[in-house]
Amino acid sequence: MSDKETEVSEAEIAVHWKEEEYFHPPQKFIAQANMTDPKIYDRMSLDHFPECFKEYADLLTWYQQWDTTLDTSDAPCWKWFVGGRINACFNCVDRHLEQHKNKAAFLYVPEPEDEPHVTITYQELFVRVNELASLLRDFAGLKAGDRVTLHMPMVPELPITMLACARLGVIHSEVYGGFSGSACGERIADSGSRILITSDGYHRGGKLLDHKQNADIAVDVAAKLGQQVDKVLVWRRYPGREVSEKPMVQGRDYFVDDVLRDHRGARVEPVSLPAEDPLFIMYTSGTTGKPKGCLHGIGGYLAYVTGTAKYVQDIHLEDVYWCMADIGWITGHSYIVYGPLALAATGVLFEGVPTYPDAGRAWRIAERLDVNIFHTAPTTIRMLRKAGPDEPSKYDFHFKHMTTVGEPIEPEVWRWYHERVGKGEAAIVDTWWQTETGGFLCSTMPAMHPMKPGSAGPSMPGIHPVIYDEEGNEVLGGSGTAGNICIRNPWPGGFQTIWGDRDRYVLNYYEKYCKDKNSKDWQDWPYFTGDAATQSEDGYFRILGRIDDVINVAGHRLGTKELESACLTVAEVAEASVVPVADEVKGKVPDIYVSLQPGHDACEEIDQAVVKAIERDIGKIARPKHVYIVPDMPKTRSGKIMRRVLAAISNKTDVGDVTTLANPEVVESIRKMVQGE
Ligand code: WTA
Repeated sequence: MSDKETEVSEAEIAVHWKEEEYFHPPQKFIAQANMTDPKIYDRMSLDHFPECFKEYADLLTWYQQWDTTLDTSDAPCWKWFVGGRINACFNCVDRHLEQHKNKAAFLYVPEPEDEPHVTITYQELFVRVNELASLLRDFAGLKAGDRVTLHMPMVPELPITMLACARLGVIHSEVYGGFSGSACGERIADSGSRILITSDGYHRGGKLLDHKQNADIAVDVAAKLGQQVDKVLVWRRYPGREVSEKPMVQGRDYFVDDVLRDHRGARVEPVSLPAEDPLFIMYTSGTTGKPKGCLHGIGGYLAYVTGTAKYVQDIHLEDVYWCMADIGWITGHSYIVYGPLALAATGVLFEGVPTYPDAGRAWRIAERLDVNIFHTAPTTIRMLRKAGPDEPSKYDFHFKHMTTVGEPIEPEVWRWYHERVGKGEAAIVDTWWQTETGGFLCSTMPAMHPMKPGSAGPSMPGIHPVIYDEEGNEVLGGSGTAGNICIRNPWPGGFQTIWGDRDRYVLNYYEKYCKDKNSKDWQDWPYFTGDAATQSEDGYFRILGRIDDVINVAGHRLGTKELESACLTVAEVAEASVVPVADEVKGKVPDIYVSLQPGHDACEEIDQAVVKAIERDIGKIARPKHVYIVPDMPKTRSGKIMRRVLAAISNKTDVGDVTTLANPEVVESIRKMVQGE
């Protein structure tokens, strides 16, 4: 674990909100809700664990029923529904054809408002997924167990590609489209992908971005790390027309629309796979520099996201569901693609920025498509509120249900969301979970619990959290004390391991509170989430933020170590330290402190070089708020950088006692530099 003295946690600088009042879900919502049975919590109590999760698995269609619900023989790498055979693509597409082939799976909204919406029915999805699966199998030579990296924006071809992989048992690893080519290359290498699937370009914030250039960089970076990419498959934003100026590399790069012609009408049987086989890898940031590939299995994951999409997202067949997250993050995988599609939902897929060309864009889409379930993150809510607090009332849309996910939501922002966006008519769920957990861990059940602004709520059925202090004592609900929130039991949505690094999986997530490292009993292995939380008397959990060195920027997880190593690629930089600073819209943004090699003076060029390095290695989402070039870092006598002190300076809070530092005088000079006299 992190050295208490040197690390700053978001929890330490988290806003401590007071207890808020309750808001009750509207009767109209309750009357139609999928889940109103309080007995579900008993049915999924620890007494009925793990068999209780059959309730979710039964929502799926299996080729073969499982014989072992939870296999703990390789603890803590849990395997769910062992003996069962299943295909995720079949569950999301084929099985709906009989009744719903003419129903929209996706309503695709391009960013340019003059481009028509595109409706993709389940039949159309079936055809496109099959043709692509045929291409992936026969042209790209992919088979079950191979990894393939996707670096795609929010276009229908992204879920189509994921489903085609799932059909074959190919493990997809989608890298968020906004990540740099270099970040993509690193993930290609780590996952051992020899195929990269990308797009030539996409619209964002009024610009048609050249995305193909990232592929060229990614392939080079992967090659330097020892991974050869044989083929780059490029989806064109406008088939037949070229968006990117980058030339296609002969024998390596292929336009998907060209190659697909040879696969017209092809049908590929979904591969019947063991339930515990992997479905995808999703990289996320953690405590050490390298991003970690969370590996999710087919049967458990799909059962969990389907169950929670049904009960917590309250998706019905006739609903129009819009999750505004990017599919490149776990929210999009679980609650745009797999969960909703398994339920034969109709989902909106939006290419662009919800405030472009103006603050009314999101609400025009909601009005036109008659969206009634809306799912987004606090950072977007803050952005929409800032851009146009009165905009929602100008449009005729009515949400029955709204979600917030990814970071704590300030009660004031929550109230705007409830009153203005929800027009007081919607049930809101604040869903707390992680890339690692596959699906929701805590949330109110929308028709059963009152909402409390700023609180995620009670745990999900079948999820049994516990808050531990540093020594492993339980912190009781209502005690007003924060601690490390853990989950006592495994659940089907949980990731199976870190790709290629089982040791790190055990170390990061289980070691701290493990009761017996040789145990095969799940009770000895509480899952360590890395978040600080408190539980109030009513049992609601309030998540305070990460306790490790992860910064949650606009709902995106960034590891401070990743940012620091990008800074250190600038030749003049000797030391770098990154701390989270509060931001009105993004929640947190990184502030960067660097000290220089001897013989260099602070200048604008070095500043710029640091920003560029971050954009190159990670992406624009990681852009710092400030770069401060400091004479020296505040250090302990053992030479460790005191991030806590820098964070306090950035956030204008008390730096605390610095007298024991090796160089206390530097603190005041940094403070002056940052805050002025
Ligand atoms: C934070 C996103 C407060 C938390 C699904 C977690 C939240 C990290 C909430 C995971 C919430 C997520 N309230 N904090 N409702 N949801 N978080 O992996 O710190 O991108 O550990 O998954 O986001 O981020 P990730």
